[in-house]
Amino acid sequence: MGIFKDHIEAMAAYAPPLEGRNPDDFTLLDFNERTIPVSDAIKQALVDYVQGNRLQQYPHYGDICERLADYCNVELGQVMVTNGSDQGIDLIIRACCREGDEIIIPAPSFAMYEQVAKVENLNIIKPLYQRDSGYPLAQVKAAITSKTKLIVISNPNNPCGTIVEPAAIIELAKSAKDVAILVDECYFEYSQCTVAAAIKECPNLLITRTFSKTWGIPSLRFGYVLAAEQNIKALLNVRGPYDINQLAIVAATAALENPEYTERYVAEVMQQAKPRLEEFCEAKGLLYWPSAANYLWIFPDEPEALNKKLQEAAILVRPKADAEGRTGLRITIGTLEQTEFLIKVLDQNLL
Ligand SMILES: Cc1ncc(COP(=O)(O)O)c(C=O)c1O
Repeated sequence: MGIFKDHIEAMAAYAPPLEGRNPDDFTLLDFNERTIPVSDAIKQALVDYVQGNRLQQYPHYGDICERLADYCNVELGQVMVTNGSDQGIDLIIRACCREGDEIIIPAPSFAMYEQVAKVENLNIIKPLYQRDSGYPLAQVKAAITSKTKLIVISNPNNPCGTIVEPAAIIELAKSAKDVAILVDECYFEYSQCTVAAAIKECPNLLITRTFSKTWGIPSLRFGYVLAAEQNIKALLNVRGPYDINQLAIVAATAALENPEYTERYVAEVMQQAKPRLEEFCEAKGLLYWPSAANYLWIFPDEPEALNKKLQEAAILVRPKADAEGRTGLRITIGTLEQTEFLIKVLDQNLL
């Protein structure tokens, strides 16, 4: 008998394929990251902090919550910072669910929800996303029982990019008042879709967000949760006082002070590069899921062969299987120039 709980020993680690992802060697279109570096203002803020001889101090969060509350148009008590949105997801599931409870996680989706649910030994219910209808709302509603403690809405979902309209989320939250609704708005700046305005009216809504995607600092691990004040108080009972490192705070503050740099990138991705890639897919009859985010999940006839060709052309994308086990390639959309290069390689290698 091992020293760990049986269900923990039976699990597998969440191990994304990080090996060999060198941006000097590849165009990285595999992790939905921003494809250009952070602004000089952020780099300078980090250098200044290090050179100001403050690394020996524990983190102190200053006015970052005020700044985020301002940015999100919510009250100060409705925000808390987290170590990436992964930590927000972890805190919410751990704080809401007990062993044996049911959690509804429509599939396929971002791996972290299921990972945390398995750590907590929850019963995972997995209605399936469909290309035409997206989030399986009717099946989710039908799956709610007295044991359901949490429903995940990945909005937009990774890998498919589909969105649930705020009105439908609010309706679900109001009709299932005893169930926590975790709305993952990791890609908010791309989708511009949020239920932040409803957190007071719906005390069972909990939103996770991040600085890993549009803001471009996944390396520093910075995210935040938006929820009714009583929820934030409860989650702060679980989060450690120093879980977010000081460099993340410094970089996020500098990023919020210079939003234009990020806004310009988001506009290029969503208004130029993405329509260009969609237009190419339409012209080639290449099936893809409608996406509200900076990625497109495409289904070529020979995904493995195409993935190999992309790698040979120094482009990394992410193979992801759909509900029927069919492999698609999830492609992060970067700058217009990177997208034109991607399209050229796709064009040369599509069967
Ligand atoms: C839907 C979704 N949520 C959360 C995350 C994790 O973000 P973070 O880096 O803030 O932990 C990702 C990362 O890929 C994601 O796709």
